[in-house]
Amino acid sequence: MTSKEEQLIRVLISGAAGQVAYSLAGLVAHGMAFGLKQPMILHLFDLPLETGKMEGLRMELIDSALPLLRDVIVTSDPVVAFQDISVAFLMGGKRRQPGMKRYELIANNCRIFKDQGLCLEAFARKDCKVVVLAEPCNTMCYICAEHAPSIPRENFTTNARLDYNRAVGYIASNLKISAANVKNMIIWGNHSDSMHPDCSIASVVVNNKSHRLSEYLGDEMAVFKTQLAEAVIKRGAEIIGARGMSSGWSAAKALCDQMRDWIAGTPQGVMVPMTVASDGSYGTPKEIFFTFPVEVQRGKWNIVRGIKIDEMSRSKIDFSGKELLQEKMAAVAEMGESYN
Ligand code: LMR
Repeated sequence: MTSKEEQLIRVLISGAAGQVAYSLAGLVAHGMAFGLKQPMILHLFDLPLETGKMEGLRMELIDSALPLLRDVIVTSDPVVAFQDISVAFLMGGKRRQPGMKRYELIANNCRIFKDQGLCLEAFARKDCKVVVLAEPCNTMCYICAEHAPSIPRENFTTNARLDYNRAVGYIASNLKISAANVKNMIIWGNHSDSMHPDCSIASVVVNNKSHRLSEYLGDEMAVFKTQLAEAVIKRGAEIIGARGMSSGWSAAKALCDQMRDWIAGTPQGVMVPMTVASDGSYGTPKEIFFTFPVEVQRGKWNIVRGIKIDEMSRSKIDFSGKELLQEKMAAVAEMGESYN
């Protein structure tokens, strides 16, 4: 280890035999999530019958000669998998099939994420950062956090960055500009059909000049806004229809983008979406995991205050909040438990 490197961390990827993990492990080990000075040991965790796939991934990672990767542990033992981890990318739930809605996976996935929460509680570091990627992901994040009470709630999130990246990609490809030239796209709510992708205050750089998207598009803004929202909301199902399986690479890239901003911080004046335990901001129900615009400094996110909410956004935010409360009740009932 050179003097410039950070201290070695242990990073868990559960559901490690899955297709998101296959893309994610290499990106993370390459430095896409934690930067180029962060050495790590990867813990790959999945069911015993998936050991072959995990071993194959371990071999490929070693064969990639990744300087930051100091070891890869393949295991089906939760004690080994969760021990001393600083970061957990939690997957391993059943994924959506063509024609399904995400909430239909509650019954299947909530026990898996309760168990992963219990393992975090028992074995992970208390400052562990946790990203839950299983549908319906806001509610699975809630269930997981609920079962790991000694890890701060603010350390739990999901992958709203995927919806944000989709929206940024949509704007960039329509305006024929670089995705790096789109800022301040907002995603509100649940990762479901009720999400509210909101480009009202997005800005773009076109021909080296910065504009509010609304000013740049002028009269076309209203139609563009509706079409963008529809495209982002339907994208997950569209990919399932096209590939016969849900998003893989783009989900992994979004996990890395989000983790990088969470650790390194967002530039001054730039907001990104993050799914976090609601404190009631913008009139949302408390406790549910809701996607808000945040700014991040020194590893701590803060919900951006004072964004003007028009009538349409108000009703969409309210609708998504109600849906999340219903999902939470359904998950809790499924497990035969009761919470406030
Ligand atoms: C996605 O949006 O691609 C993921 O949430 C997977 C899904 O079920 O659509």
